[in-house]
Amino acid sequence: MLKRRCAAALASALLFLAACGGQRDATIRVGVALYRQDDTFITSLSQYLQQAVLEEEQARGVKINLNVVDGRGSQTTQNEQVDQFLDKGYDVICVNIVDRTAAAVIIDKAQGAGVPVVFFNREPVEEDLNRWEYAFYVGTRADEAGRIQGGLVLDAWRADAAALDRSGDGVLQYVMLEGEPGHQDSLLRTEHSVRTLTAAGVPMEKLSNNAADWQRGPARLRMQRWLEELGDAIEVVFANNDDMALGAIDACLDAGMEPEEMPFIVGVDATAPALRAVEEGTLRGTVLNDASGQAEDILALSCALARGEAPAVELEDGKYCWRQHTAVTRENLAEFLPEAS
Ligand code: GAL
Repeated sequence: MLKRRCAAALASALLFLAACGGQRDATIRVGVALYRQDDTFITSLSQYLQQAVLEEEQARGVKINLNVVDGRGSQTTQNEQVDQFLDKGYDVICVNIVDRTAAAVIIDKAQGAGVPVVFFNREPVEEDLNRWEYAFYVGTRADEAGRIQGGLVLDAWRADAAALDRSGDGVLQYVMLEGEPGHQDSLLRTEHSVRTLTAAGVPMEKLSNNAADWQRGPARLRMQRWLEELGDAIEVVFANNDDMALGAIDACLDAGMEPEEMPFIVGVDATAPALRAVEEGTLRGTVLNDASGQAEDILALSCALARGEAPAVELEDGKYCWRQHTAVTRENLAEFLPEAS
């Protein structure tokens, strides 16, 4: 019944556009609910989203009202924000869900109001996404980021194993800085980074692991403790994201280490500060988590849904829109740096 309501809304939007002879002068209202606005990667994605809105407005002569709100890490707050978007008659809502296992509640609310919902970055479980035809996900494949990150270490091992294996015991000793427990990116990046090396025959030994919830400060404290306890035994630091890799580098700098004395530290995201660290030689590699591409897809999908058009983005199973990761090292860094003005 409610599904029919949304389908009817989309059909009437199409009829309306046809009646207007293709003129699209109505304002599109998009509500964006972020899990936390102070997350470095999410901040950059949100900035790209605002840039994509300006470009779309100019290119198509439309008005887009983008309202971005901060859930401050609380699912209760985010649910209330979603209620407000729906009460105010937004055309589409985009949700960076706080608790990825709680998507059913939001999907049911959106379905009740007949408003399409685009989740991004924090992937709902498949069963929830399948609850409604107008629930979508834009993101990147978490296992792919892990494999590429593992590949950065594997390439370095193959190029000069002795430089990585400082103890000379033929085994790579590593520590793992993990993101939030339960997040698809924490679980799968952790698993696939290490598996890529072991599958290639590199003997690996985990010295320790700890969750630092994507954040630089807690990662710095954790790495300080590891340096005290384990010292030179740490040969590789896998960090599930760049902010935590930068925290590990902060701890190494605090300990007075030069870049070449630091363990081989790798991250994921390719944020601006991480690219600077790659340039300086403290971060040995990262994985581009295409924030601008995902922002473009979120907006393209949202506008199409609001207009009742077929989405211009490619959808797997009619629901998933994926962007690919890319390895970033000092060798190809120039391709990822913002153009000099
Ligand atoms: C990941 C990203 C992290 C953090 C997290 C938030 O994809 O690598 O830095 O932003 O999303 O959900």
